[in-house]
Amino acid sequence: MTNSPPVGTSHELFKAERKKQRNRWADFLNRLGGFRDHVAPGEFGRLYKQVSPFSMMSHPRLKGIFRGVQDVIRRKVKGDLVECGTARGGCAALMGLTCRQIQTSRKIWVYDTFEGLPAPSQEDPDFDLAKSFEGDCRGDYDEVRRLFEKFQILDDVQMVKGLFQNTLPCSEIQQIALLHLDGDWHDSTWVCLEQLYDKVSSGGVIQIDDYGHWAGARKALHEFFDQRNIQVDLKYLDYTGRQFIKP
Ligand SMILES: C[S@@+](CC[C@H](N)C(=O)[O-])C[C@H]1O[C@@H](n2cnc3c(N)ncnc32)[C@H](O)[C@@H]1O
Repeated sequence: MTNSPPVGTSHELFKAERKKQRNRWADFLNRLGGFRDHVAPGEFGRLYKQVSPFSMMSHPRLKGIFRGVQDVIRRKVKGDLVECGTARGGCAALMGLTCRQIQTSRKIWVYDTFEGLPAPSQEDPDFDLAKSFEGDCRGDYDEVRRLFEKFQILDDVQMVKGLFQNTLPCSEIQQIALLHLDGDWHDSTWVCLEQLYDKVSSGGVIQIDDYGHWAGARKALHEFFDQRNIQVDLKYLDYTGRQFIKP
């Protein structure tokens, strides 16, 4: 599958229409899954109830992380679990609780300013809207730490405070099994890809939270794919979440 947006040939328009229909079907199944987890929570539903008050992510995107963690562990993909953009810690907590549920442990790295979103840049096509979100999504470092403590996963977690642009270039991460990109803006997404993509094991899982919501995050991902000539199947999670396996 190509990663470029469709152009106007009838075959490509047909493929784009088919994709829309598949996505609508996925949205319907997501609603069903959310309802089922609400009335009769299964393995994921129980964890979802615990972490969702501390996450801005939707049910399908958190489920993507849950399944991604299970998947890399089942396939014995080597490396740590990394989240860039943690805010109040719910998704990172889910990573830890998922490991515990399957009686294993992986090191979890969480990166954030813990001071809210930095300013977007002119690389963000929706800059005018994006700039009004500067400082939003703030997770307080000590509160997030206490959340990890409450869930008894703190020993596995390494919290790194600061701008990705400053912290990632000197990161001690050696190898990554699952990478969650949730930094909203173009430059935040770009620096994560530039600094961390090569550390993701082949067969590792990469999830991006803002593909559909923020044009800058989508733009950074496609620029990176184009620069490296990377061809992947982007799995649709919901209107904004996508996941892929590193070739
Ligand atoms: C949408 S929130 C993350 C949501 C979180 N994953 C959850 O489960 O609720 C985006 C986070 O990315 C962080 N962020 C964005 N760009 C950043 C950058 N360049 N450096 C550090 N943190 C950044 C913000 O501080 C914010 O907490």
